[in-house]
Amino acid sequence: MLVLLVVVLVVILLIYVPAPKEDVDSKIESPVPDKNGNFTEVAKKAALAEKDTNNYWSAPDITSLDHDKNKDLILYGKDLIVHTSDYFGENGKLFKNNTNGINCQNCHLEAGTKVFGNNYSAVASTYPKYRARSGSIESIYKRVNDCFERSLNGRGLDTNSKEMQGIVAYIKWLGKDVKKGDKPLGSGLKEFAFLERAADPEKGKSVYSEKCQSCHQANGAGLLNAEKTAYTYPPLWGKNSYNDGAGLYRIASFAKYVKYNMPQGTNHSSPQLSDEEAWDVAAFVNYQTRPHINIKSDWPKIEEKPFDYPFGPYADGFDENQHKYGPFKPIKEKLEAMKKVKKTKV
Ligand code: HEC
Ligand code: HEC
Repeated sequence: MLVLLVVVLVVILLIYVPAPKEDVDSKIESPVPDKNGNFTEVAKKAALAEKDTNNYWSAPDITSLDHDKNKDLILYGKDLIVHTSDYFGENGKLFKNNTNGINCQNCHLEAGTKVFGNNYSAVASTYPKYRARSGSIESIYKRVNDCFERSLNGRGLDTNSKEMQGIVAYIKWLGKDVKKGDKPLGSGLKEFAFLERAADPEKGKSVYSEKCQSCHQANGAGLLNAEKTAYTYPPLWGKNSYNDGAGLYRIASFAKYVKYNMPQGTNHSSPQLSDEEAWDVAAFVNYQTRPHINIKSDWPKIEEKPFDYPFGPYADGFDENQHKYGPFKPIKEKLEAMKKVKKTKV
């Protein structure tokens, strides 16, 4: 009886005596020392960078196409994306002067496969989708033609043409292993922080002459190859550049593209530009003269205009100048607050 009582008491004690509190300090993330044992911000960052073991998207292996019945069409599409100007440029073998002479690949790097190089990994999985720019559900065909008309400042392709079918087949093949609705890690462009201040085109001008001009030229017109069939360095402004309805014309897209991809050879794990340089050079380059497209039908719902869309009218109360250069944080916050209000009203 007594033995039983003792056992019961021990069990009760075990259950009710609180476990020792975890040491609070052990939960605070400890800083990482550098090689000399110093705890610097730089060392912390370096340690974090080394730890980037993220599983970024990568394109399917091209040899897997050997058994694909669409192999030829897919490879044709890839060639059109890599050598767009050979087909549609000034002396294009399919259409002359159908575009400004730049290649899809100039912006969708490595044939649309580079991590955070504006790749196509999330296209097959997310289209058709609603896009606020047109206020409608868009197919991949429509999206491709958007880039023909805006980024290439040219004419779109017939949906049934072998060329459009090829481009779409290639883009779909690239994204074939991505689950419907998913955006794989490394898709599109990489986000980075806003500046507290407005982007400064004067500062951007110095960044341009130091870090861009050697390739893209002082007048922004780029440099053609010796045969004059394609650009070795594509234009960034002037008559052969993307027009003012293009995706890159939005300063945040430009900044994101440039920060993680330029100067040529840069990638997301070793950016060459500081955040300030990326925003400032974007402000300098984007608002140089470039072709204009009639885009009156864009953004039919003005409350869906993004924070960096530089043409009013706006529903958020900020002016064109702030949508052009920033500071963007207050606009973004306002837009998000407006969205919430709308949701609770529904
Ligand atoms: C001057 C740069 C530029 C060129 C050239 C260009 N694009 Fe784009 N493209 C963009 C930008 C910027 C976006 C939007 C990226 C974003 O908003 O994240 C985009 C988006 C797209 C998308 C949608 C991607 C997605 O994930 O939603 C497709 C598809 C596309 N482009 C196809 C093409 C094709 C095909 C060509 C050549 C005919 C082309 N682009 C040429 C800049 C360009
Ligand atoms: C060493 C040469 C070089 C330097 C320096 C360089 N670029 Fe580029 N840039 C290129 C090349 C080449 C491409 C096309 C990439 C491709 O096709 O793979 C390109 C493409 C671009 C594009 C997209 C295509 C277009 O015509 O719109 C933009 C935008 C751009 N660069 C901006 C910049 C900015 C801004 C800087 C300076 C911070 C810069 N580049 C520095 C070589 C360079």
